[in-house]
Formats: sequence, structure tokens, C-alpha cells
Amino acid sequence: MGKKREASGVNREPKAADQQHAADASRLRADDGSVPNADYHIPVLLHEVLEALAIRPDGVYVDCTFGGGGHSSHVLKALGANGRLLVFDQDADAVRNVPDDARVTFVPHNFRHLKRFLQLHGLAQVDGLLADLGVSSHQFDEGSRGFSTRFEGALDMRMDQRGEKTAASVLQTYSESALHKLLEQYGEVTNAKTLARTIVEIRKTTALDTTLAFRNAVSTVVKGNPNKYFAQVFQALRIEVNDEMGALKELLEQIPDVLKPGGRAAVITFHSLEDRLVKVFFRNGTFEAEEEHPFESTVRHNPLKLVNKKPIEASAEEQKRNPRSRSAKLRVAEKK
Ligand SMILES: C[S@@+](CC[C@H](N)C(=O)[O-])C[C@H]1O[C@@H](n2cnc3c(N)ncnc32)[C@H](O)[C@@H]1O
Repeated sequence: MGKKREASGVNREPKAADQQHAADASRLRADDGSVPNADYHIPVLLHEVLEALAIRPDGVYVDCTFGGGGHSSHVLKALGANGRLLVFDQDADAVRNVPDDARVTFVPHNFRHLKRFLQLHGLAQVDGLLADLGVSSHQFDEGSRGFSTRFEGALDMRMDQRGEKTAASVLQTYSESALHKLLEQYGEVTNAKTLARTIVEIRKTTALDTTLAFRNAVSTVVKGNPNKYFAQVFQALRIEVNDEMGALKELLEQIPDVLKPGGRAAVITFHSLEDRLVKVFFRNGTFEAEEEHPFESTVRHNPLKLVNKKPIEASAEEQKRNPRSRSAKLRVAEKK
């Protein structure tokens, strides 16, 4: 059981001690200049991603999750003067990290619109693509964004401030069964049913619109360590608010079309549901195969091939230096 939790481990909010450790590491890295904006976010599996992408100096690359630009900065180092890098981030805060570099184009939108923006920028196909899923350390650390169980703030949790759905609106409007399902599936909350019932009861009389109000209102049903419990609950709400599974599925489905032959896609996930989507898609080149009759012998053409059979995980050294990397899994596919 303990093992399963660890494996499905998640980009849940790091513990306070881990935060301190990562902050120390980030200062070190900022000082040696190897990662810009390390206070914003420390990239995970950096060397593994660069190796996986096998960057061609004159190639065209996409970073679907720009964040602090840690991965992107190293892609740029490997690119020559004619290389290009298109970077997506749906969070307006990320734009401040975009380097002043003519090779970079910033797209302030959801990566689910990948193909549309590639076309808009006259880039039909690319040599490589990276997605480092979930939220950045910066988003956790900004109490006002509502991602963190550690700070008081509005229960917002939108990565894209233009979106209408917030964590507060999910708690206020979703049916009991919908709340139960998302708490169970996205957060692995042990007593998801009880919590869903409690939310529906309490919201009749109490506004569940701030992190603290919510924590206090449901405190009687918390199981085990409250910090761990709320980290799981907050994660579930965040995944729902940002439709993280839907966006990932749409991104994956566009990969075969947007990669040039020999081009590579590297995707880093932080929980088992995401990893499963990536694994299935890279293995089959479609989500449909899964639903087919098992005795049907249709041989499908998969336009992708796996570069690594098993997911790549962070080294012991990286896990120690950056606890956030502990649940990271990198999968890489190549267009045939
Ligand atoms: C884990 S951080 C990426 C960190 C980055 N690799 C770095 O080195 O700094 C994820 C970033 O992707 C963004 N993001 C997550 N899902 C997204 C989506 N569907 N579309 C666009 N941006 C997204 C988040 O706003 C966040 O800034």
C-alpha cells in the first residue's frame, strides 16, 4: 500500500522541510548560473530530458510547459542561431521568465492548442517536444493562487486566470457523486465518499471559498496526517479545475502529426493517472486500441516508437537535492 502511494506519488505540494532543501539547492544553482529563475522553479530530470531530445542545432522545438524556463534555457544552449523554440504556458506569471532571444516565441495558452499555434507560427512539424506536467514551485508558493495548503488564500487554483472554473466553484456547484469521483480518482483520498457528503452538507451554510475556511469546515472528517490529507484533496481539486487529464490527452493525440520523422517527444508526469495515459499512447499511438475487443487481431500502425521501455526516474542525488523529483517519470517516444 505504502509503495503504491509512493508510485502514484504526484506533484502534490512539497513538505515545508523539503521546500527549504529545494530553496537552498535553488540558490546554489542560481548562483552558478546553470538554471535561470531557479527561485521560480527547479527543472527536474534536466540532463535526462536533454539526452532524450537529442537536440539538432538547427531544429525546431516546443516546450509545452515553460514555467521558469529551466528546461528551455538548456534547449536554447544546444540550439544554434537558426534553431527555434516555441514555448507554451497558460499562466501569465510565466511570461516574466521568457528570455530576450529572437529564437524564442512565447505562446500564453493551453498546450491543448498545440497544432493551431504551430500553424499560426508557420511551423507545421517540429524536431522535438517537451511537456513537464503539473504546477511549478512558484504556483505553490504564491499563497494568493490557492494551490497551497500552507497559506491562507482564495480557493482559486487556476493556472490560467482567464478560466471560469475555480476550486471554490467546484466545491460549491459539483454534485456529491462528482466530488466523490474526483477526490477518489485524482487525489486517492481514502474517505472520498465521506468528504464529498460533508462538503455538500456544509456548503449549505458555510462559504468554502478560502483555503483556511475549507480546511476548518471539513476538519472533523480528516483521516491521518492533516497536511498529507489536504495535499491529496488540493491536488484532486487542482487537476479538476485545470482539466489536466483532458489537456494531456489532447496534447498526446497531436504528437504523431506534429513531429517530423525521427523527432522526439519527452513527457514528465507526476502521478500514476497521467503516466498511464502517456504510457498507453506512446505504446499504441492511439487511445482507441485500449477499448478494442481483446480477441480482435487488427494490427494497428503506431507512428511512434518507444525510446525507453521503462520510464526514466530521477537519480538518488537529484531526489535528495530536489524532493519534487521523487515522483517524476519521464517517457520518450520517437516518430517513425
Ligand atoms: C512543472 S512546471 C514546468 C517547469 C519548467 N519545465 C521549468 O523548467 O521551469 C509546469 C508549467 O506548465 C504550465 N502548464 C501546466 N499545464 C499546462 C497546459 N495545459 N497548458 C499550458 N501550460 C501549462 C504551468 O502553468 C507551469 O508553469
